[in-house]
Amino acid sequence: MAMMRHFLSPLDVTPDERNWILRRALELKAGARPPQPLAARVGSLFFNPSLRTRVSWEQAAGVLGCSCQTLNAGADMWTMEMDPHAVMDGATVECISDAAGVLGRYFGLLGVRAFPQGKPWEEEKTEPILNAFAERSGTSIVSLEGAMHHPCQSLADHLTLKESFGDNLKGSKVALMWAWHPKSLPLAVPHSFALQAALAGCDLTIVHPEGWDLDAEVLAQTREAAQESGGEVRVCHEVEDGLKGAKAVYVKSWGRPQLPGEPAPPELRSWTFGEDQWAQTDEARVMHCLPVRRNVEIASSLLDSDRSLTLDEAENRLWAQAGLMEFLLTQGRGVK
Ligand code: CP
Repeated sequence: MAMMRHFLSPLDVTPDERNWILRRALELKAGARPPQPLAARVGSLFFNPSLRTRVSWEQAAGVLGCSCQTLNAGADMWTMEMDPHAVMDGATVECISDAAGVLGRYFGLLGVRAFPQGKPWEEEKTEPILNAFAERSGTSIVSLEGAMHHPCQSLADHLTLKESFGDNLKGSKVALMWAWHPKSLPLAVPHSFALQAALAGCDLTIVHPEGWDLDAEVLAQTREAAQESGGEVRVCHEVEDGLKGAKAVYVKSWGRPQLPGEPAPPELRSWTFGEDQWAQTDEARVMHCLPVRRNVEIASSLLDSDRSLTLDEAENRLWAQAGLMEFLLTQGRGVK
């Protein structure tokens, strides 16, 4: 029996598979379609809010001729028990292992969004919810953002970089810049972007205030990926130094994993991407996964100009996911 494929991290596909998915995404965007509708049953389950992900996931399934059903854990389902060994004599009604098994019988491919829940980072980073679905559903699971990664976002970002700078991104100078935000945000997007940029062979600079490091394991994987792809990774703590020469700047806020929920202090509000910061780049294109806090993370004047790639990134969620779905449903496993 073929191994069940899951997509929980940018590393869950080989370079050849990634190239196939991205090439197919561009073909689908240009109007190509599978010779026959794939007619698979696709689902998504959200433990957290979403605009782009839920819409683009459903649209991607439609492009391939699949049906798609979206569930919101907080509204559509029984209260879920996350511990498969719990004595369920409290408020929770349905155990995650049963829910995963049931949904696996209905769907040939299931996307799941499960943000960190404020538990210790060493526990969060094991992605207990996503892995429970991967281990117990018997179907292919795609992360629609977990604690560690947002791999569909970074596939779309990779596609967007290719469209902007050409197919070969080796040596493209890209910066990932931390920005202040009134809330402490997850690390999944910056983790996946850093790793994806390294896999693409970019010359990546990660610039953040001291103490706002990415997870050490992800950073090590990013450095390793860059070594293999011929890219470079540098971490610095000075905005001017970090942005110098950048052709693309990915702006993102993230929290400190050891201090879940604690926002950054107001002294760091100067970590914003405005016209002055843009002037330090090499006429960079501006990237952000959205939603963005305008005039806090990024100036409106940049977001509303042709320097912004944010709407391309959002649209490319659809096409990148369609390429991924087609890969998983035809090459990754059989169609259910
Ligand atoms: N970028 C992104 O994942 O957006 P949503 O949270 O709205 O899905």
